[in-house]
Amino acid sequence: MSSLKNDTFLRALLRQPTEYTPLWLMRQAGRYLPEYNATRARAGDFLTLCKTPDLATEVTLQPLARYPLDAAILFSDILTVPDAMGLGLYFAQGEGPRFERPLRDEWEIRDLTAPDPTDKLGYVMDAVRSIRRALDGSVPLIGFSGSPFTLACYMVEGGGSDDFRHIKTMLYARPDLLHRILEVNTRAVTDYLNAQIEAGAQAVMIFDTWGGSLTPHAYKEFSLSYMQTIVEGLIKEREGRRVPCVVFTKGGGNWLEAIADIGADAVGLDWSTDIGEARRRIGDKVALQGNLDPFALFGTPDSIRTEVGRVLESYGTGNGHVFNLGHGTSQFTNPDNVTVLVDAVHAQSRRPL
Ligand code: CP3
Repeated sequence: MSSLKNDTFLRALLRQPTEYTPLWLMRQAGRYLPEYNATRARAGDFLTLCKTPDLATEVTLQPLARYPLDAAILFSDILTVPDAMGLGLYFAQGEGPRFERPLRDEWEIRDLTAPDPTDKLGYVMDAVRSIRRALDGSVPLIGFSGSPFTLACYMVEGGGSDDFRHIKTMLYARPDLLHRILEVNTRAVTDYLNAQIEAGAQAVMIFDTWGGSLTPHAYKEFSLSYMQTIVEGLIKEREGRRVPCVVFTKGGGNWLEAIADIGADAVGLDWSTDIGEARRRIGDKVALQGNLDPFALFGTPDSIRTEVGRVLESYGTGNGHVFNLGHGTSQFTNPDNVTVLVDAVHAQSRRPL
């Protein structure tokens, strides 16, 4: 395969020198882009978009055509894994994701198995190969998965939740059942990420969106320890390069030392942690990814530049920072403000190598 024209993202993840701070945005492809909405309308619905490699390739490339981002992220969703386990994912209009068969009964949990990623999730691997061909070495491609705990939240609740009542009931009343789900998810996620790496993903990220809803003790037992097992089981090198791994727990700011200890190359931060403080706590071990408030993009061009400056200054000089938002790009973001953001990060961080 051809070598990369822009590898600043991969170098920053390994805390190697770069001539500016690279950036990409969580949910950089999505409903804030009119071209995304047009492709989704052609697909008919969101899941068809995910399951059609040509269309997934098209929407992956849309934000890169508009903005000089330093990485592409596979267009898919974390919930394709429980879908492949047979839970029946669907997206009700305006309601977010739902499962036809949430996991509640003991026998269903005992029957749960990790899917073969090259079979049931073969469409994802086809998308990865197709995106790599389309990128043609311009920027690296990020693969991703949900964390075992975050996937379990959706699998047990049957969709999004305000209070995680069902999964927390299981956690306290039947921890054995939750551990059984998490063990299957850990196998599934490890196999899934490794299949993405073999198909061409050049870095991977684990999204632990709901780990922050746990107590410190439960976080370590039910989320972090399983992510550690995954990180230990990942393919570390491919095409002659390290395949870096990013771990992101939303709301995990209090546990950064523990997160930085599981062996990942980088830790993602939400906007509630000061990135300079995070660097003082863990920045000699891992790279940091983040952490502009996604709603900073709702300000003016000047306020966006100011907020970008705050994050860059707080991180300080030296290597090991990948700029990102602290969570996904809102569907109500003005695409022109993303132009301001991307230019501001590149201009304000430029330095001699
Ligand atoms: O970052 C990217 O550009 C890659 C694409 C991506 C999507 N989902 C596309 C998507 C990624 C990395 C995800 C991850 C994901 N999905 C997470 C973890 C990160 C996070 O945001 O916390 C979670 C929890 C999900 C589950 C999920 N998928 C929810 C809760 C929703 C509905 C919320 C919403 O924004 O509508 C989705 C749907 C979804 N996934 C959309 C996109 C672009 C919107 C679907 C649409 O077009 O209608």
